[in-house]
Formats: sequence, C-alpha cells, structure tokens
Amino acid sequence: MAQRPAAQQPYWPDEAALDDVERELAGLPALTSEDEVVDLMRGMELVARGSALLIQGGDCAERFHEAVPELVRQKVDNLQGLAAIMRAGSRSPTVAVSRIAGQYGKPRSSPFEAEDSGRQMPSYCGDAVNDPEFEPVARTPQPRRLLTAYECSRLVLDELRRSWSGRPILERVYTSHELLLLPYERPLVREGTRGAYSGSAHFGWIGERTRQPDGAHVALAQAVHNPVGVKLGPTVSPEDAVALSRTLNPERVPGRLTFIVRFGAKDVDRLLPLVVDAVARHGAPVVWLCDPMHGNGVRLSGHKTRLIEPMRSEITSFTRVLQERGQWPAGLHLEMTPDPVTECVSERDEEPRFTDYRSTCDPRLNPEQSAEMVSHFLALL
Ligand code: PEP
Ligand code: CO
Repeated sequence: MAQRPAAQQPYWPDEAALDDVERELAGLPALTSEDEVVDLMRGMELVARGSALLIQGGDCAERFHEAVPELVRQKVDNLQGLAAIMRAGSRSPTVAVSRIAGQYGKPRSSPFEAEDSGRQMPSYCGDAVNDPEFEPVARTPQPRRLLTAYECSRLVLDELRRSWSGRPILERVYTSHELLLLPYERPLVREGTRGAYSGSAHFGWIGERTRQPDGAHVALAQAVHNPVGVKLGPTVSPEDAVALSRTLNPERVPGRLTFIVRFGAKDVDRLLPLVVDAVARHGAPVVWLCDPMHGNGVRLSGHKTRLIEPMRSEITSFTRVLQERGQWPAGLHLEMTPDPVTECVSERDEEPRFTDYRSTCDPRLNPEQSAEMVSHFLALL
C-alpha cells in the first residue's frame, strides 16, 4: 500500500536511528491489553446510547520526569474526583479517560519558534521528540526519546492499574493520547483476537491538524478496533464530518467513534448545528464530546492562556445544540492538572494573574477550575 501523507511529523535528522527504534518498539510488549480496550468499549457503548457520561482530561503534554507513582496518583485522583462529581450530579455512570501514559507528542501550529530577540529554534514537539529548553541540541528531534516515551508510559500504566484494584470496570480511569507520532504508534499496533488494536493506549484520538480523510493518521485509526476520537475544529465541513464518521465507523458500532468538538465560543453556535445535523442524517453513529479548551486560546501579558468565561460559554452552546437535536451531549474533554496553577484565568481575576504557570504547552485548568467546568456542564443537563 502506498504510504499515505503524514502531517505534523517532526524532522528526524537520523533516519537510521529512527528505523532502529521502530524495530525495537515492535519487539516490546504492548502497553495496553486487548481485554482492557474491550472493557472501555463497553463503557463507550453506554455513552453512545445516552446511558452514561464521559470525562476525558489531563495534561496538554505529559513530561517524562513526571512518570513517578506519587504524581500519577494525583492525576488519576483528580480525574476520578471529577468523574465522581459527574456521577453524583447526573445519577449516570461516568466513563473516565485520562490524557495520560503516552501524551508525549505534540502537533504545532508552526515548526519553528522565535525568541523575543528573533532567534529561531525548532518548536518543542513533546518529550517523545525533543526537550523544551530553548537551545539547539535540546530542540533537535532524538529518535531514542520514543523508547523513553514507551518506558515512561509503562511506568505510568503500572501505577494507573494499581488504582483499579477493587473498582468496577466502569469506574476505572483509562488511558488516551493523540495518535500523532507514527514511528511510535505503528509498531505498537498489535494483532488481538478481534483483529488489530492499538497497544499504545486504550483510547486514541486524531488531532485537528492530522484528520485529513486520506491521511496516515485516519488510516491508522481505521486499522485498529479501539474506541477512537477525532478533534473537530472550525475548518471542518459537515461533509468532512460525515465522511470521517463513515470511514472510522463503517460498521456503525456505538462508542467506536467520538467527535471531540473544539470550535471556540465564537463559532460553535454557527457551525455545530450543521455538523450535527449532517452526521445524524448521513453519517455513522458518534459520541459528541465538548473540548472547550482548544478553540479558545488567547495571549495575555505574554502568556498563552484561556479565559474561563468563553470556555463556559462554549460548553453551554455545545450542550444546547445537541439537546435541541435530540442528541446526547456526552461530556467534556479538559486540559487540567492537580496542581494549583494559574494558567487559565478569569476576566474577573485581579493582577498579577500568572503567578504559577508551569505548562510547557497549552494552559491547563487547576482543580477548582475544572470542577467548576464540570458543575457548569451538569447544571445544563
Ligand atoms: C490537544 O488536544 O492538545 C491538541 C493539540 O488539540 P487539537 O488537535 O484540538 O488542536
Ligand atoms: Co493542548
């Protein structure tokens, strides 16, 4: 089969080293088991039927040095807490999927980044690719980092599975990340008893920048039977969404495909109704999930941030549009951290605003802010 075009792949200077890494990854055990993937699919089926809610959340980019039990526990507890709020507030089961154990590769709007002085460097593409330090060696993509990503994901998963003990299958936190770096993802596709599945995650999604219908990422997601997601931003047409739903869910399996909508507060009222109607009429079944983060980025006093008010407003619009069409607003996709950061801010916050900004990528909600988003969503149901 001819190689499909692959968007957003870093430029790896050492191709031979990259080939070696792919071979090594292919020889390592899968990180996730097919049985776990099937367990999550059962939960996603309930979500698709409108009998359960879904909360997906975690860091924009995980860091290698955070792959330690104590920090993993904090992240899992943080998401588990939000899932508990959803269960209590809706009296529905709630499926919890974290952005964890593999969220080490980042698509970037520009391949280069400039300092105020004008000095340019390749962009930081996640710990699986390079290091955020603004320095030429650190920013050079290193293939062996993909193996470190595997090792860190394994450590994180070990800890995550410890949190499962004594919990019903539906109350476990599952793993997810963006299926972005093909030299990492392809060798981790494994043959199971039900066909090929991705052994890198339980749930994988395709980003807004890599969802080309004839592209390599859609082909990868097509080849595996995990539950998968696709981010939909404001450039998606209703026809694109219909085509994606049919390509990725040809057998119309409830829960197989989630559309993670991130139109932004300004565009969601105008664009979402057309997309939802087209998919309902001509497409295959999907779960509708609201990502109020990625369409609402702004720059304030030199910081990449997101304001609470437009995020709330996107959640409101998303929920109303789906409800008006008899569709199930399944839940939220959030970038969040258990740390008390001040990366996202409110219009009402007093200066100085960014006293604790730690993210190397997108701004995250702190625990108070993420609980507030969940309560806001629940109040609309
Ligand atoms: C992300 O989820 O971190 C991301 C890059 O999202 P999107 O593809 O929606 O821009
Ligand atoms: Co992000």
